[in-house]
Amino acid sequence: MHTKRIIVGITGASGAPYALRLITRLAHANCEVHLLASALGRRLMADECGIKKLDAEALTGGRASQLTIHNENDLGGPVASGSFRHDGMIIVPCSGNTLSKVAYGLTDNQLQRAAMVTLKERRRLILAHRETPLSLVEIEAMRAATLAGAIVMPLSPGFYLNPTTMDDLVDFMVARMMDLLGVEHEIQPTWDEHLAAERAARRGEQA
Ligand SMILES: Cc1cc2nc3c(=O)[nH]c(=O)nc-3n(C[C@H](O)[C@H](O)[C@H](O)COP(=O)(O)O)c2cc1C
Repeated sequence: MHTKRIIVGITGASGAPYALRLITRLAHANCEVHLLASALGRRLMADECGIKKLDAEALTGGRASQLTIHNENDLGGPVASGSFRHDGMIIVPCSGNTLSKVAYGLTDNQLQRAAMVTLKERRRLILAHRETPLSLVEIEAMRAATLAGAIVMPLSPGFYLNPTTMDDLVDFMVARMMDLLGVEHEIQPTWDEHLAAERAARRGEQA
């Protein structure tokens, strides 16, 4: 089976637990994961996940060999090149700053450059944005990024699967991310399965 190669970018928006869970799940799905994190992204990993230094073992839950951590300041790094073939890039969480840079083609670090290259090579780019409310500046940047081929994915978990823990909410979004990246998972029931389970439970009550 083809091993998927996925680039994950972490920027300085709230939502580092999404990134941590996604990386762990991708590694356990045997994906080859390449990580780029901005300075503020690293800070939020420390603030929100207690990970003070990005470490492959901790990020992958014991699958360190699946993860390569790149230097975001190296604009000549491998991930910044169009010849670096991959199956998709996701920036999670994606700050308004990085959203705007990507939308208008600015490449101040290797993360932004990798996103720009992903667009120019017509590969899948997902921007898991977190900010609320939105100004027209961000709405226009989302429009520009979408027209350029990116998928803007607001980090807004649904409640229809009746989450009871923060892990459930994180997994709700991570499942949608893995769907968009084309990586198989068994995180949560689909809506169809959820409805079928509800119907079965109702039948049980009536019996
Ligand atoms: C604690 C903290 C939380 C932040 N949360 C957000 C956020 O949720 N969304 C956002 O767009 N920016 C947020 N910011 C601001 C960004 O970190 C800031 O715009 C920064 O320049 C982003 O840089 P980067 O895109 O290179 O990571 C936050 C900053 C801090 C310090």
